[in-house]
Amino acid sequence: MPDIVFRTEDITKVYDTGDVKVHALDGVDLQLYSGELTVLLGPSGSGKSTLLNILGGLDHATDGHVWFRQTELTDMTNRELTKYRRDHVGFVFQFYNLVPSLTARENVQLVTDVAHDPMSAAEALGLVGLDHRMDHFPSEMSGGEQQRVAIARAIAKRPDILLCDEPTGALDSSTGIQVLEVLQSINDRFGTTTVVITHNAEIRRMAHRVIYFRDGKISETQVNDHRLAPSEIKW
Ligand SMILES: Nc1ncnc2c1ncn2[C@@H]1O[C@H](COP(=O)(O)OP(=O)(O)O)[C@@H](O)[C@H]1O
Ligand SMILES: [Mg+2]
Repeated sequence: MPDIVFRTEDITKVYDTGDVKVHALDGVDLQLYSGELTVLLGPSGSGKSTLLNILGGLDHATDGHVWFRQTELTDMTNRELTKYRRDHVGFVFQFYNLVPSLTARENVQLVTDVAHDPMSAAEALGLVGLDHRMDHFPSEMSGGEQQRVAIARAIAKRPDILLCDEPTGALDSSTGIQVLEVLQSINDRFGTTTVVITHNAEIRRMAHRVIYFRDGKISETQVNDHRLAPSEIKW
């Protein structure tokens, strides 16, 4: 049995926006395992991003407990969460959040300059197949290439966990498949525990584990015996 990387116990998240309270998470009990690629599936508004942000230390749960290995995140101050994110977490979002005035290499160096044991920006960009585009600016790259720069930036610090929120949401399908291939290859090569949020149900076939989300709760979990490469999936 692989090690447990994340464990949550009855976490809730309530957004209090004055008149209405939104129950974004309504009692989530979850375990994520070392080296696994987990796909989190569910309709829009079901709480997927809220959960990912709590696991990644970008947000606090309202109630309940979250452990990263032996450390309880729900006890941490904002300052401790910042350190946790810096040391352990790589994020990939739907929109790439690159700095437009910096080249691909410089965007990745923003992270490698402050990380403990990073790979070089060149190595990270090589892993996502962008050796030849290192000195290009985001405006000179396609959406898929920009997302691969964002992935290089996320993996350059050798994170323990890679959290991806709709990483192909803004891409056409063939470009999206390339980005998913990169994520799967990083997971295979480094054993980086990876979570991919999506509402494209076919993506589940590339995962070790699939978690279905509905109304702020987990409705079902599946384990894949035979996961596919993204290029093998019938989209
Ligand atoms: N900052 C916020 N303030 C108020 N409500 C929010 C906020 N963020 C998310 N929500 C609400 O919480 C619910 C879950 O949102 P989210 O986690 O983004 O869902 P998903 O990622 O599955 O689409 C939704 O009803 C959403 O409108
Ligand atoms: Mg979302």
